Amino acid sequence: MASSAASNPRHIAIVMDGNGRWARKRLMPRGMGHKAGVDALVKVVQACADRNVEFLTVFAFSSENWKRPEEEVSGLMSLLLVALSKHLVRLSADGVRIRIAGDLAHVSPKVRDALLDAEQKTAHNSRLTLTVAFNYGGRWDIVQACQKALREGVAPEALDEATLARHMAMAYAPDPDLLIRTGGEVRISNFLLWQCAYAELVFSDCLWPDFDAAQLDACIADYRRRERRFGDVGADPAEPLAS
Ligand code: FPP
Repeated sequence: MASSAASNPRHIAIVMDGNGRWARKRLMPRGMGHKAGVDALVKVVQACADRNVEFLTVFAFSSENWKRPEEEVSGLMSLLLVALSKHLVRLSADGVRIRIAGDLAHVSPKVRDALLDAEQKTAHNSRLTLTVAFNYGGRWDIVQACQKALREGVAPEALDEATLARHMAMAYAPDPDLLIRTGGEVRISNFLLWQCAYAELVFSDCLWPDFDAAQLDACIADYRRRERRFGDVGADPAEPLAS
């Protein structure tokens, strides 16, 4: 069914890219860019809640990010722990529910426990669900969904789209309406491959630490100008209506 995207998106997904370049421009180590990225994220979460966005999903650490220098990877892990201890109480008081999507089997017990603790402590909130994609990859998600379904005994011929969707990591959320990538690159980088089949894509040149409520509004305005067709034909005002 074709529809205009005139209303605000219910679900926004973000690839928060550009932290490293933001830091380099300031002659700072890359880790300072990630730290500034956390501050930007906290503000964007608040801005989304204020705009009645129900789901925000952010790519915090991809399955491929392990390839980065050991020092940067351990810096990101420490930053995550610091960020949770610094912001969790405030986020929870603001009605934010935190959920994690990703393969936690291979992250350190300390990081895993902190992520699961954040999920558990905010489970009662319902204003905005913030999904932190951590050690996440879109291909991993599709494979784990197939594995889960097969383990449950779903027969191959019964494995249809609806069944698979129920086994994806974010089965609790509607598909993203809007996918934003900051940092000027124009690619999806193995983010929500299944879920973004019909998302509107907005690419921003803004480096993530500089992304703020005004940038978010510009992306939402761009989204609202789109006509969402979901494979259907568009509304053509010149076309006569069927009698
Ligand atoms: C990409 O920028 C960003 C990341 C790999 C991490 C994003 C993380 C945050 C915003 C902080 C919140 C998450 C955690 C884990 C605490 P980049 O480093 O690829 O930037 P570049 O393209 O300019 O080098």
